[in-house]
Amino acid sequence: MTIQERVDALLKKMTLKEKIGQLNQAGTTMTCTLPGFEPDMDTWVSEMLQGKITKAELDRRVAMCEENLREDEIRDGLLGSYVNLYDDEKIARGTDIARKESRLGIPVFVGVDVIHGYRTMFPTPLALSCSWDLDAVRRETQVAKREAWVSGVNWTFGPMLDISRDARWGRIVESPGEDPFLAGEIGRVQVEEFQREEEDGCRLMATAKHFLAYGAASGGQDYNTVDMSERQIYETYLPPFRAAVDAGVGAVMSAFHDLNGVPCTMNRWLLTDVLRKELGFDGFVVSDAEAVKQCVVHGTARDEREAAKESLLAGGDMDMSSLDYIQYLEDLVQSGEISEEEIDRAAGRVLAKKFEFGLFDRPWTYDPERIRKTVLSEENRAAALDVGKRCAVLLKNDGVLPIGDSVRKILIVGALADDRQALMGPWSFTGRADDQITIVEGMRRYAPEGVEITYCRGFGVDEDRSGFEEAYKAAKEADLVIAVAGEEAYMSGEAASRADLHLTGCQEEFLLGIAGRSVPTVVVLVNGRPLAIGALQEHTGIGAILESWHLGTEFGNAVAEILFGRYNPSGKLTVTFANEGGQEPMYYNHPNTGRPGNDFKFTSKYQDVPIKPLYPFGYGLSYTTFAYEKLTLEKTTLKMEDTLRCRVTVKNTGKREGEEIVQLYIRDLAASVVRPVRELKGFQKISLAPGEEKTVSFEVPVTRMGFYDQTCHYRVEPGTFRVFAGPDSTKGLEQDFEVI
Ligand code: BGC
Repeated sequence: MTIQERVDALLKKMTLKEKIGQLNQAGTTMTCTLPGFEPDMDTWVSEMLQGKITKAELDRRVAMCEENLREDEIRDGLLGSYVNLYDDEKIARGTDIARKESRLGIPVFVGVDVIHGYRTMFPTPLALSCSWDLDAVRRETQVAKREAWVSGVNWTFGPMLDISRDARWGRIVESPGEDPFLAGEIGRVQVEEFQREEEDGCRLMATAKHFLAYGAASGGQDYNTVDMSERQIYETYLPPFRAAVDAGVGAVMSAFHDLNGVPCTMNRWLLTDVLRKELGFDGFVVSDAEAVKQCVVHGTARDEREAAKESLLAGGDMDMSSLDYIQYLEDLVQSGEISEEEIDRAAGRVLAKKFEFGLFDRPWTYDPERIRKTVLSEENRAAALDVGKRCAVLLKNDGVLPIGDSVRKILIVGALADDRQALMGPWSFTGRADDQITIVEGMRRYAPEGVEITYCRGFGVDEDRSGFEEAYKAAKEADLVIAVAGEEAYMSGEAASRADLHLTGCQEEFLLGIAGRSVPTVVVLVNGRPLAIGALQEHTGIGAILESWHLGTEFGNAVAEILFGRYNPSGKLTVTFANEGGQEPMYYNHPNTGRPGNDFKFTSKYQDVPIKPLYPFGYGLSYTTFAYEKLTLEKTTLKMEDTLRCRVTVKNTGKREGEEIVQLYIRDLAASVVRPVRELKGFQKISLAPGEEKTVSFEVPVTRMGFYDQTCHYRVEPGTFRVFAGPDSTKGLEQDFEVI
């Protein structure tokens, strides 16, 4: 029988209520074992995300509560899917009830945010994108998939594919950066790997989220409104979702915000016309958490009943956490406002994915020994280290790095250097702080014999200056200072927008203070977003800046390998660093104005900050240097059906082996609508020995050089184009070609 036949046969046996149950996704509920202690998960999680309580404290409180698996609802077929159930024993219980005790034995989806690893944490998505390394993306995804799958998870709420051009937005840390092409490549690999079935049945259904344009939240403020032209939607925000759909993604999550006036949750144009009819998506749409009922708050539904109706009719198949579908859909069918066919269609989509992902035929079996052997294995940690070191970006280096033989005494300063929780980064609920390697530990582990490492807290992310003097004194004894600054985990991620992109508290003051004391200083940044760190770039006392984002469980080891030169940094930025938050959104592929910024007054710029970004998209240093030579085009006149074939030679002109990310951009010089000054069309990460040169070839079909015209139709216009091949979005060799 085909999946569709199995779905149809099953639907025939189901009651209306059971079908609606498949559209209902909810978490567990809490009851308390201690008298007088009221469980309040939402507030606790919120407090943890704001740094008010630690994860350990949250765990302690949760331990005092009993998690109710909604057993009766599962048994009655009223809950088709769990959201964020992590405990493997409980997953075993919940999934067993569905299979063995419900009338039809329909299995449940267990959906979890597997964002950057499961138990073994890996680099955050933003960090991972900075590797520009699709093999690394695949490895991270594979390990996360296996750890989650053995633990009973069968669905992940990832990859997040929101193009992010605004560092004020806290969720930029969950994104693959600002470029649609790179994000699409990464998303495609993640979807393929999460969903690839391994021999023992290991696979997760993936979710492309948040549909759509959530990254463009107005002012970088989370959940905020988005008003956007269709061209912008199609050219910038849709492509990664198209790539995910083409790769067969099972689910799409609609976003919280309103897009052009209609909340994505009930946006029929978005969820039906664009997603299903244009992209050809055949999976199901899940709302974001409680987003169905939030349509009432948006003011586009009178009450939750209407919100349920409008969401379902718009194309939203599953309700995450609002409990509105389960409460109102039956009545809406009985009153004739929704037809039963609508319910069948949505339930059919969910069931089809349950069949496709093996929930019926290859159910997960609970095997504590297998979990123990799999999660956090030596092998997985090694993979996390290897992927981790590929993601850090060297932003500045006057030669102080890698740490040379003459350095015998190293002082590490900064609370973040030794803070396990902060180093894990946001979205690491399934990880454990105890597993986390700190920067202090990593540096001690990798320090060559005879090199002394001292740690002094000195400063944190707040205003407390009481540790300054001790640190400054300790610096006098050191040959090198490694200062770790940035953001705590809760300062990026969901609901963590910031209006000011400077280092918080007294961090900059401390860093400039120590840098002025004639001890070479290296700044290691731990953060989730680009920061306004122009003062550090300018200060000659700061010899190097390493952007390490959050590199996962092996963070400290990865940083140590880079600082001691055992690994030559190879990451490049996938997001622009503005000089000041007031310049956001700042991104490389912007349209040209009629008056591009320059020294002349009447041009597009701010009076009080440099025109150019602090660090552009695609930028990143290495311990070696590369030269670009000979950009050659196979043909300089191309027809519409042709492919641009070009080659560029890259040479390692330094003394160390290193990897270079060779980037290819194009620009349409004159078109009927304004085109970006550059658009990424290809990239390759290559490794070169000292003195070695390689010729890198790129192929870009002319059909990929088009745009959406004034009537929002995609087309390629004949004319002159420019191709650039270089080390970042501002440099490189260039040559023109004609499209006829
Ligand atoms: C987030 C989603 C996430 C969901 C479930 C929401 O708050 O926006 O990205 O998948 O929670 O945890």
